[in-house]
Amino acid sequence: MEKIIIKSKEQIEGIRKSSQLAGNVLLMIQDYVKPGVSTLELDNIINKYIIDHGAVSATLGYYGYPKSSCISLNEVVCHGIPSEDTILKDGDILNIDVTTILGGYFGDTSKMYTVGKISDTADKLIKTAKHSMDLGIQQVHPENVIGNIGFVIGRYAHSQKFSVVYEYCGHGVGIEFHEEPQVDHIARKNSGEEMRPGMIFTIEPMINEGKASTHTDKTDGWTVTTKDKKLSAQFEHTILVTENGFDVLSDVSGEYK
Ligand code: MF3
Ligand code: CO
Ligand code: CO
Repeated sequence: MEKIIIKSKEQIEGIRKSSQLAGNVLLMIQDYVKPGVSTLELDNIINKYIIDHGAVSATLGYYGYPKSSCISLNEVVCHGIPSEDTILKDGDILNIDVTTILGGYFGDTSKMYTVGKISDTADKLIKTAKHSMDLGIQQVHPENVIGNIGFVIGRYAHSQKFSVVYEYCGHGVGIEFHEEPQVDHIARKNSGEEMRPGMIFTIEPMINEGKASTHTDKTDGWTVTTKDKKLSAQFEHTILVTENGFDVLSDVSGEYK
């Protein structure tokens, strides 16, 4: 097994800058999320903003991935490819996931957006996904083990009668896009490796309205949907383990301060 990188002060500050840029992209794009806009238009705005801020998108060209962001609508769980044919309409829910490389450092974050009036179920699903991530974040402190993140997420999501995607996980991030450790969003209590100050990883639970199983589109090789075509929602932050807890590096609203 590979080792989990403990980041230096300098690396942490570099990863913080990149994560803040990714977080600012998610704030900036909010105003453009409207009925009639295509997800390709959103991706173009995102790409320009990233480049204008001296960075590049980490997803563009990643194992052949063709775009600067992932935009996942409704039953799409993750890795939705922005397209001129995907036009936002009233009632849609969508996740926009942005990973930046700034000064060689990676920052990775995503959030949900809504278009017009959404259903009560969609609203509850989004709130559950956000609270699941937040419960996971609250488990981040030295001496705790990584499995307890997935334990609290699974317990809460199930209490709301939703399911947790187990095929895609959080991950170490910063020097590379995807590093050790793997952060499962459903896990046994007190399982996994100990967290230590200087570790940086994402927590990014995907919560499904129906069953947890997913299906990957055979034509484009990327788009992951729920197998039962019911809704899915996800939030993601890049998180540093500190001496006494956590620091949400991609938080640009001061929500976790
Ligand atoms: N940003 C995604 C994550 O949270 C990964 C996207 S990889 C891509 O890990 F190739 F699909 F863009
Ligand atoms: Co990620
Ligand atoms: Co991401």
